[in-house]
Amino acid sequence: MSMKRIIEISLIIVVLIAGAVIIILTTGESPGEKTYPGLGQDEITIRNATNNIITYQVNKTYSGNAPERKRLKSGDIHRYKTQENLDITFSCLGKTEVRTLIPGKPYSFRYDEDNLTQLYEGSHGRPDVIDLAPYLATPMNVVEKMLEMADVNRSDVVYDLGCGDGRIVITAAKKYGARGVGIDIDPKWIKESRAAARRAGVSSLVEFRVEDATRTDISKATVVTLYLLPESNALLLPKFEKQLRPGAHVVSHNYHIPGWEEKEVDFASIEDQTGKKHSIFLYKK
Ligand SMILES: C[S@@+](CC[C@H](N)C(=O)[O-])C[C@H]1O[C@@H](n2cnc3c(N)ncnc32)[C@H](O)[C@@H]1O
Repeated sequence: MSMKRIIEISLIIVVLIAGAVIIILTTGESPGEKTYPGLGQDEITIRNATNNIITYQVNKTYSGNAPERKRLKSGDIHRYKTQENLDITFSCLGKTEVRTLIPGKPYSFRYDEDNLTQLYEGSHGRPDVIDLAPYLATPMNVVEKMLEMADVNRSDVVYDLGCGDGRIVITAAKKYGARGVGIDIDPKWIKESRAAARRAGVSSLVEFRVEDATRTDISKATVVTLYLLPESNALLLPKFEKQLRPGAHVVSHNYHIPGWEEKEVDFASIEDQTGKKHSIFLYKK
């Protein structure tokens, strides 16, 4: 190998290492690795987001103990301080499921689309705040359809509860001139939302706050957007009843609001770019 080639390769390696160091310094994360607020790298949390008591067994143990049977009440969290993986067994519809849980990640038992209990990765892992849903973005064509169905215009105030990267309120501001408030429990998303609003030139119309959406005052909202889970929507229903003004719209991606059937005024099914179907439920108070 020529000297020139060796220098070229060395330079590429130096640039790659510098890039990785910059990513770690600016985000606090190793490339390709997701961290969760409120959760240590030597910790695993399991939350029960269902309405039932869940029993599961810890098989491979983090402390060398014998396999242990655990009972997790609805809404509770079990925390394991461990640097080793944790194998657990639980049953779903008579079938035994075995899962390996990894330190630094939060897990939650939730209902799947068929109302069966499954274990999912993703939850903010904070014991003091209800976990409404793990992060997943609404595809942009679904965002557009949600705003169109809610008939958003410049006199509206759109609240997105669990706003992720802020795309719903930013689109409402950019396309319709609506004001908006995005709420998320994860500071990372609020930072990203604010930066996205600046890029879209709508910072004067929108506001993003790190808050627990179950505690946010939504009385100024004329439109509320949701992409949470059915049990989270049900949890927020008393807030809608108490704080929303008559005529306010609530538009929910994929999941209905259990208990608000009589307020449902429209429904749409729409495909995203990959051909995946999405449901949109529109409610009017
Ligand atoms: C499925 S994402 C939806 C993101 C965005 N609304 C969208 O449609 O693209 C759900 C969001 O809810 C947030 N979240 C979960 N529990 C929350 C809580 N108690 N308060 C506020 N945000 C919460 C998560 O951090 C996540 O960003």
